[in-house]
Amino acid sequence: MRVETPTAVRLEGVVRRYGELEAVRGIDLTIGRGDFFGLLGPNGAGKTTTLAMICGLIDPTRGRILIEGDARRPLAGATKRKLGLVPQEFAFYPTLTARENLAFFGRIYGLAGHRLRERIDAVLNIAQLQERDREPITHYSSGMKRRLNIAIGLLHEPEILILDEPTVGVDAQSRSAILETLRKLNRDGTTVLYSTHYMEEAERLCNRVAIIDQGRVMATDAPRELVRALAAGLIELQLGVPATADFLTSLRQLGTVELPGPDAMTLTVSSLQPEVALPELLGLAQAAGLPIRRLHLLEPNLEAVFLALTGRQLRD
Ligand SMILES: Nc1ncnc2c1ncn2[C@@H]1O[C@H](COP(=O)(O)OP(=O)(O)OP(=O)(O)O)[C@@H](O)[C@H]1O
Ligand SMILES: [Mg+2]
Repeated sequence: MRVETPTAVRLEGVVRRYGELEAVRGIDLTIGRGDFFGLLGPNGAGKTTTLAMICGLIDPTRGRILIEGDARRPLAGATKRKLGLVPQEFAFYPTLTARENLAFFGRIYGLAGHRLRERIDAVLNIAQLQERDREPITHYSSGMKRRLNIAIGLLHEPEILILDEPTVGVDAQSRSAILETLRKLNRDGTTVLYSTHYMEEAERLCNRVAIIDQGRVMATDAPRELVRALAAGLIELQLGVPATADFLTSLRQLGTVELPGPDAMTLTVSSLQPEVALPELLGLAQAAGLPIRRLHLLEPNLEAVFLALTGRQLRD
């Protein structure tokens, strides 16, 4: 039995139009308090539009959004202060230093004096920028800029942290620093809602994900549940001789068989239960006297879930 956690954010039938274009087409979502929630989707899926509505930057055309049960609109100040937004585009002054930027944004959040200095030090520390805090941002790498963008969103200690593609365009080292920071904030009680098109990253981090495509939620669940229910594993097989018609017929009992090459020596079998299909496949090949040159098992993952739901690969 799943224990229901209190709701942090709830979307009910949310639609958003831009003129003729319906960018978000009726989204229902529930993000529990303490969740590390991933909004996954390709370019143009409606991720930024959805996050902007949750933060109250734009209004839904239809439907409603509740933050901890509160649906007042425009969002009351107290509700707004619970949210921290890290936007997809950098939002800071490039000629100022990190410290100057943080002081500026801190004052917008109503911080001042000792408390402001304390929060600036805290977020510089979290973003691992404390040693470069007095340099103009123009000197920063894109990973450092991403981290500063996050630091700004954390200044007022939001209970719900919303990040729009926080790991785009950063090197592997900055990326893992960012992800580790988010993981720690989440462990310490912050609800994290973030958008990404990196399925593999979301699979590792999130306890729940929603897959969105063309403004609709295609599925919501724990990544492991989605993979179990929807993702086919792919067995790639290379034979030493062409497959016989009989062999192909019996293989089709195990899953969907495709012959990607010009000859019948390379084939793929996709199956929802690859761990069952694999030994059977080996048995069939042996019984048919077909030598196996190469065998490769591609694990089911969120990429495969996306493919199963949309019929398309998710690529940058
Ligand atoms: N201000 C706007 N005016 C008109 N159309 C818009 C506006 N903002 C977004 N759109 C359109 O709405 C759709 C959803 O855009 P959105 O930015 O929410 O997608 P996204 O999932 O964030 O994409 P990306 O991964 O590229 O950031 C797209 O077709 C986009 O072109
Ligand atoms: Mg976006």
